[in-house]
Amino acid sequence: MRSAAELSVWRRGLDRPLSFVPTMGGLHGGHGQLMRSARSSDQGPVLVSIFVNPLQFAPNEDFARYPRTLDADVAVAESCGADAIWVPSVATVYPDGPEDVMRIQVPDSLQRSLCGGGRPGHFDGVATVVARLLAMVRPDRLVLGEKDWQQLVILRRLVADLGLPLSVLSVPTVRESDGLAFSSRNRYLSGEQRERAAALPRLLRATDDGAIDRLPNALRDAGLEVEYVERVDPVTLQPCGEEKAISLLAAAVRCGGTRLIDHVFLMSRAPLVAIDGPAGAGKSTVTRAFAERLGLTYLDTGAMYRSVTWLVRSHGVDPADGAAIEPLLDGLDLQLKSLPSGGQQVLVNGKDVSTVIRSPEVTASVSAVAAHRCVRQALTNQQQAMGAKGGLVAEGRDIGTAVFPDAELKVFLTATVAERARRRALDLEQRGFPVPERSELEAQIAERDRLDSTREEAPLVKAADAVELITDGMSIDAVIDELVGQFRSRVGEEVWPTPGN
Ligand code: PAF
Repeated sequence: MRSAAELSVWRRGLDRPLSFVPTMGGLHGGHGQLMRSARSSDQGPVLVSIFVNPLQFAPNEDFARYPRTLDADVAVAESCGADAIWVPSVATVYPDGPEDVMRIQVPDSLQRSLCGGGRPGHFDGVATVVARLLAMVRPDRLVLGEKDWQQLVILRRLVADLGLPLSVLSVPTVRESDGLAFSSRNRYLSGEQRERAAALPRLLRATDDGAIDRLPNALRDAGLEVEYVERVDPVTLQPCGEEKAISLLAAAVRCGGTRLIDHVFLMSRAPLVAIDGPAGAGKSTVTRAFAERLGLTYLDTGAMYRSVTWLVRSHGVDPADGAAIEPLLDGLDLQLKSLPSGGQQVLVNGKDVSTVIRSPEVTASVSAVAAHRCVRQALTNQQQAMGAKGGLVAEGRDIGTAVFPDAELKVFLTATVAERARRRALDLEQRGFPVPERSELEAQIAERDRLDSTREEAPLVKAADAVELITDGMSIDAVIDELVGQFRSRVGEEVWPTPGN
């Protein structure tokens, strides 16, 4: 398809969610992977656009000689499962001309570092064209590569800041047999340059914390001209050091006249996710499913507080008596084991308490026991030890504030009191319990919130850097999708792949 009208007619005929892969043509194995990932993850239609966007090239850059290989591109797109290809002209994308289009201005903080530093205006041009393409295509999902990580971060922000009704699927970098990331510009390289270029991924991969300062020289020694080598926070794109457990080490070089970019993630431990929020917000259901989707271990801190409560009660100790509880914590052996059936086994000093910790007696005392400083300290220490290597998602009240303040993703999952009362009534009804009046349920929930957020020890508060998710009107799947999207905008597939992908 070429015209906006043809696109619009095709678009109107679709009855499944549309995935959109914007490209500038010169299609290669990396683009192929974008199409295959889009196709395999939900089987819906896939549209590829090919448009060499004049707005994202500076006058001295390669706009005129950028590869234009339409016939070969059509063959690649077809063989990789695209349903349609849209090749608009400049006049279709910019009816008043590129100079007169309403521009998107990318925040300075996101384009100061990495490629933005040496290519002023480039990301404004990328964001502007993508906004135009999205307005015309109206996809349900935008599919982008992780190779240009800065572009991915910026376009995710475009979608979030403009409140566009679509999700973003990011796909890991695909490499050629010598390790070089697929790029339309690789075809500019001669055989000899190609050998030199392969040093970029090789040296990036060989660089650890201590060797970053030596990387620019190593690249130069390999015959590459260095534009930048930078280590940044993958979310804010601000320069960072080894205090960040997961950071992005990115480089741009020139090989002959050809500009090449690549990056690696430096990771001192696997990712951590903290999910906090009030009672009844559905945290455990979504956290368990989210953990499974991303291959993270699920840490149910509520089960730990319940286990201590069970121990307290089984010793006949008053749940309100902190001094009497303290000795029980000495040498406490508390273990959470995932069962192959998907459930969880909880062992306290070797005894299986998985079922008894859910009893009404434990439920009635857990708030009192969990409020003691000695209990919180003991369990926080244990949770931190369990999370020392990362690879974990923990759910509770103070995970993002007290237990894992350095978690890569913090979420404050909540819902209005009315919504939580509605869900609670449904749950009671399904379990065959009597259902109190809605106003009474709402009053109970509001009182529990008040107690949780005003208690002295580890009150329930949203961490300053947490993402707040209000789940009223959202299905469980929509909440999980949102959490996965938030995770993926912080931790690339490349460094923490989705199992089964
Ligand atoms: O990555 C690209 O190919 C381009 O920057 C994009 C996203 C298609 C916008 O022109």
